[in-house]
Amino acid sequence: MRLSFVLCASIGLASASLRPVANEEAADLLKRQSYPYPAFTIDQPIDHFPNEHKYAPHETGTFKQRYFFDDTYYKPGGPVFLYISGETSGTNRFSNLQTGIIQILMQATNGLGVILENRFYGTSYPFNTSTTDQLRYLTTEQSKFPPNLGDFEANFVPAIADNAYFAQHATFPGVAGNLTAPGTPWILYGGSLAGGETAFSVISYGDILFGGIASSAPVKTVLAYPQWYDPIQKFGPQDCIASINAIIDNIDDLVDGKNDAAITELKAIFGLEVLDDIRDFAMTIAYPLGGPMNYPTNTWQELNWYPAYSAPDFFNFCSNITNINAPANITAVDYALANYTGGEPWTGLGNYANYFKTQFLDLGICPQGDYDTILECYGTQNELILQASYWADTTNNPGRSYLYTTCTELGAYQVAPSSGPSLIMNVLQVDYTQQWCTWAFPPGRYNQIPSTPDLRAFNKYGSFDIKADRLAFIDGGVDVWLDLCYHSNFAPLRTSSDLNPEYLIAGAGHHWDSAGILDVSAEPLFIQQAHLWEIKTVQKWLRTFPDWKN
Ligand SMILES: *[C@@H]1O[C@H](CO)[C@@H](O)[C@H](O)[C@H]1NC(C)=O
Ligand SMILES: *[C@@H]1O[C@H](CO)[C@@H](O)[C@H](O)[C@H]1NC(C)=O
Ligand SMILES: *[C@@H]1O[C@H](CO)[C@@H](O)[C@H](O)[C@H]1NC(C)=O
Ligand SMILES: *[C@@H]1O[C@H](CO)[C@@H](O)[C@H](O)[C@H]1NC(C)=O
Ligand SMILES: *[C@@H]1O[C@H](CO)[C@@H](O)[C@H](O)[C@H]1NC(C)=O
Repeated sequence: MRLSFVLCASIGLASASLRPVANEEAADLLKRQSYPYPAFTIDQPIDHFPNEHKYAPHETGTFKQRYFFDDTYYKPGGPVFLYISGETSGTNRFSNLQTGIIQILMQATNGLGVILENRFYGTSYPFNTSTTDQLRYLTTEQSKFPPNLGDFEANFVPAIADNAYFAQHATFPGVAGNLTAPGTPWILYGGSLAGGETAFSVISYGDILFGGIASSAPVKTVLAYPQWYDPIQKFGPQDCIASINAIIDNIDDLVDGKNDAAITELKAIFGLEVLDDIRDFAMTIAYPLGGPMNYPTNTWQELNWYPAYSAPDFFNFCSNITNINAPANITAVDYALANYTGGEPWTGLGNYANYFKTQFLDLGICPQGDYDTILECYGTQNELILQASYWADTTNNPGRSYLYTTCTELGAYQVAPSSGPSLIMNVLQVDYTQQWCTWAFPPGRYNQIPSTPDLRAFNKYGSFDIKADRLAFIDGGVDVWLDLCYHSNFAPLRTSSDLNPEYLIAGAGHHWDSAGILDVSAEPLFIQQAHLWEIKTVQKWLRTFPDWKN
């Protein structure tokens, strides 16, 4: 079992995966992609809220928070672009400085780019372990900002939180001059969870941080998030989608009808008869689609507009399911359960099961072939002792940090929809994800997690009405997380302005504007236009900086 960071689309930039270098431009790309950035650290206070009782007893110390910067394009007077690293190590974000959005903005404005690693990720852990008590310092507000004044207890005293503190204290060895905020314009950029953190930082620290671009940022969160599957349902290859819908519908009927014999047959078709809990089975066969929370391979979310950054697993899965040239012994499987559906075949079942077996069972994800143990593989319910030790292992780990944020603040558990066609079995509901929270974070002495995430941590910033000067929102029209974002299908239409700019990129996925290829003019049209818009937006803001500063 691997925990994958559902909000974090890391772009595979390994040069091995790049297409053959056909021209000079591609050679430049490779060269800049191998740019090394030395690590620097800042001594960051562990506790920015010495008077806030929820952090008691208070820590007075600091921890080493890591950052990396690029001054290739910097000229005195230029802005600083702060890339919020979010739920992964800062080193995983280098592409943004090398060839991505920060590179694009730096080049356009003579700016300097810097990645600040999030607390509890990479090497920026305040403690040597991550117990429930220690994790009380992993809150969005500690990382990013003091809560809004006014809606908090009277004893709250505003403190300087990580981003604002960093902007005011950062040093860039080798770069002349004092580049701290607010004397220098600091513009934040974050994608995904880090996009939310960007937005909340600019809202809370508008007097220190000049502006920000929040990309695919969750601004309104919910407990159950069946909409994660909606873009796949709508925009996936429809023969494949319809086939999965029908298969899932049939399975749900067997489960509803408590047809144990048929379910046993079904599990065997996928080679998963050993999985006792039907939800473990449901999660496992959902791996090629993604979730809930866990998936070991790439899905719709990991697609990208640039082929070398993309992972086409999802489309391979679909083309396998709809393979009209499958061998007879595989298509015969479509009839294996036909007696439970009035003789109607389960079109694509044989292909689905065959793909699952060859891509998951046979590929060493479960090295001993023992699919029902958590350490090995797919089971989450058995061997309670093992399970407790797996989930409750307090070793510092980004998966654990991200799970903590999910369990305490973010929610958005991927579940089956309550009606309409579904890509995942109906047994996948909130309780299934919540149990991991319960196992992973037993009550500590000073801290215990809520029974379900306290969504106010995100939603108190205005939800879909979120707004601040020089805070831009950019989203992707086919992003699985879209419905938590500014351009959610649940949000009203609005008009954009220079102070409150917004852009929904047609046909784009999860923060696709983060990626670049060192040549905006060579990008696909919709991405190119989004990048040109981001450049113009920032340039317009920078023209107003002298007035803001005064
Ligand atoms: C954390 O680990 C380091 C290196 O092993 C050690 O020097 C330090 O004392 C430890 N800190 C705590 C608080 O245990
Ligand atoms: C940079 O400027 C700020 C504000 O003007 C000042 O507080 C800070 O001490 C300066 N930092 C350095 C390293 O000179
Ligand atoms: C099935 O998936 C595999 C692995 O992704 C891929 O290599 C293969 O081309 C696919 N086959 C078909 C018929 O789509
Ligand atoms: C189908 O036949 C091939 C070749 O005989 C065999 O390798 C494969 O395991 C069979 N698949 C199924 C699902 O029976
Ligand atoms: C379906 O039912 C028929 C009639 O009862 C039976 O002959 C056949 O073996 C069954 N097929 C399967 C795959 O169970």
